[in-house]
Amino acid sequence: MKNYSEYAQSSIRMIDSDGLLKSLKCLGGRKIDVIIESGTFEGTGSTRTVGNFFKKSPPNVFYTIEINHNSHRKAKRNLKDLPFVRCLFGCSVRMQEALDFIRNDEAILHHDRYPDIFIDDTKDPVSFYSREVEGYLGGKAANLFSIFKSRPKEGLLKELIEMHRRDTILFILDSAGGMGWLEFMTVRKEMKDRGYYLLLDDIHHLKHFRSAKFIREHPQEFDIIGQSLDHGWLFCRRKDIHPK
Ligand SMILES: C[S@@+](CC[C@H](N)C(=O)[O-])C[C@H]1O[C@@H](n2cnc3c(N)ncnc32)[C@H](O)[C@@H]1O
Repeated sequence: MKNYSEYAQSSIRMIDSDGLLKSLKCLGGRKIDVIIESGTFEGTGSTRTVGNFFKKSPPNVFYTIEINHNSHRKAKRNLKDLPFVRCLFGCSVRMQEALDFIRNDEAILHHDRYPDIFIDDTKDPVSFYSREVEGYLGGKAANLFSIFKSRPKEGLLKELIEMHRRDTILFILDSAGGMGWLEFMTVRKEMKDRGYYLLLDDIHHLKHFRSAKFIREHPQEFDIIGQSLDHGWLFCRRKDIHPK
């Protein structure tokens, strides 16, 4: 894989809000009850863009999950004006499951087999992504006081899906590069035959190149609503197999 810093559009935040807004407009009047996002960072990218879009007709709740405590605290401040946004400090899946996945993922261990795909660290991606899911993005640890005060919750995607069994959900998956495929498979498994909307960021990156490929290869399961190959995002609808 190629180092992500070589990518012309590289950014930790999700960008291209114009193209994305056009795609979100394709929802028409269809009501989204709940939004669940993994990877808030500081709340100024995808959370802000999607939150602003839904400001006039808000979902019941927009959960956004962040594992780095400093980023989580900044995001809470940055998103104060969007009362339906609930910032959660925690991990999208169980921490041990994330670490085991990163240590054993074929695409991480053999990233040289995928020359067209981007990755954040070509030398030691296992350590890089393990540190990110442990909350150390950018090398900054959460301060000890805040960790003791509030421990990160784990397995939040599954827990939130279980809490919202009857709701129409929009998922935004944009956490660590090494986690995208695991989160996509978690959502697919936990949502079983339910319909939902899904926004992926970084589809030509390790994060979601496999999720995007899977979606394109399964048109019986997914409708692609919009995508930007330049900016690397994809928005789709998982069809209802058994509509409510
Ligand atoms: C690419 S950034 C998110 C960017 C954000 N969506 C935006 O557009 O500004 C990824 C974030 O996910 C967080 N993260 C990484 N693994 C996570 C996990 N398993 N659960 C929750 N957050 C995670 C990182 O700390 C980082 O802040």
